[in-house]
Amino acid sequence: MLAYINHICQQLLLKKWFFIGVPIKTIICNIIKRGAILEFKHVPVLLNECIEGLNINPDGIYVDGTIGGAGHSRKIIEKLSKNGLLIGIDRDNEALEAVKKHLEPYTNYKLIHGNHDDIKEILSELNIEKVDGILLDLGVSSYQLDEKERGFSYNSDNLLDMRMDQTQKLSALEVVNEYSEEELAKIIYEYGEERFSKQIARNICIERKNKKITTTKMLSEIIEKSKPYSKDGHPAKRTFQAIRIEVNNEIKPLYDTVIQSIECLKEGGRLCIITFHSLEDRAVKDAYIEAQGKCTCPKDLPYCVCNYKSLGQIINKKPIEASEEELKLNSRAKSAKLRIFERREKASNTK
Ligand SMILES: C[S@@+](CC[C@H](N)C(=O)[O-])C[C@H]1O[C@@H](n2cnc3c(N)ncnc32)[C@H](O)[C@@H]1O
Repeated sequence: MLAYINHICQQLLLKKWFFIGVPIKTIICNIIKRGAILEFKHVPVLLNECIEGLNINPDGIYVDGTIGGAGHSRKIIEKLSKNGLLIGIDRDNEALEAVKKHLEPYTNYKLIHGNHDDIKEILSELNIEKVDGILLDLGVSSYQLDEKERGFSYNSDNLLDMRMDQTQKLSALEVVNEYSEEELAKIIYEYGEERFSKQIARNICIERKNKKITTTKMLSEIIEKSKPYSKDGHPAKRTFQAIRIEVNNEIKPLYDTVIQSIECLKEGGRLCIITFHSLEDRAVKDAYIEAQGKCTCPKDLPYCVCNYKSLGQIINKKPIEASEEELKLNSRAKSAKLRIFERREKASNTK
């Protein structure tokens, strides 16, 4: 939408006109952006499964750590009584602006611009120690991907950016132009599972010696030149995903965030996490297994003497995936995996 408006503005040559020092294009874009907030589009993935998984107590406190377009949050808040509270966290201010519209006419919610990796700190600032449920729907929203000016998309020609939090310093511009060839190859291989990572990293470094790589189109063209044609979607898809994951530090803190989130739950409280990438799913699975703990006593002992630590119980051993019906309506749900954990105090001597 904004890219389209931009295009029209450029056609009208408005970009060369200024009003009290501000380009007319920026003024028009900002006005339309406010309107476009109403159009923040994101179809929630595994919606019913998450709501069931959270097992909502109408008077409880729930955290949506990735509120985005409030698709899940709206369903949560519909289930809450006036005594219940929803806390919505997002690192994207544009998302939070849109949420206010999406959650009309409800008032029993608080919005926090922040990172769910700091969930304990965020709750403590709200004077809340424990909550009844937490939802994390990881990754980017369709809105962020579609909003071409955010620089996530290989299908456009915009400044390289890819920051979910636009107040953050590190952007794709620095990653692409300042990381070493080895670092780039590692990121592209690990986060993008891209077979041609080394060639892509090498060509990025060669090209940037001549000219700084500033746009999504420049990067996309270098990637296209670095690998043979394949039917596996757009050639730049994997590399763009990898750079986005690096810019937004999506994987490294995840294991600790999961443990921290479980520690923030009341007895019987549930944590639901949707992942879209094998590395995310691995981190969540490993953290759940660690949090559940394991009795190491000999099998024939009737009670536990090893006194293993446990924070609760994994609810579904296998991740829940989207149904055929959902996949027909939303292709984004294809790689989604939902894992649920329930907080339980371990009774001493339980095996
Ligand atoms: C997949 S979308 C969530 C969509 C939402 N569940 C819905 O149905 O509309 C992910 C959102 O989480 C935000 N996000 C990603 N990582 C985050 C983090 N570490 N802390 C806070 N927000 C994050 C993104 O900015 C994005 O808006």
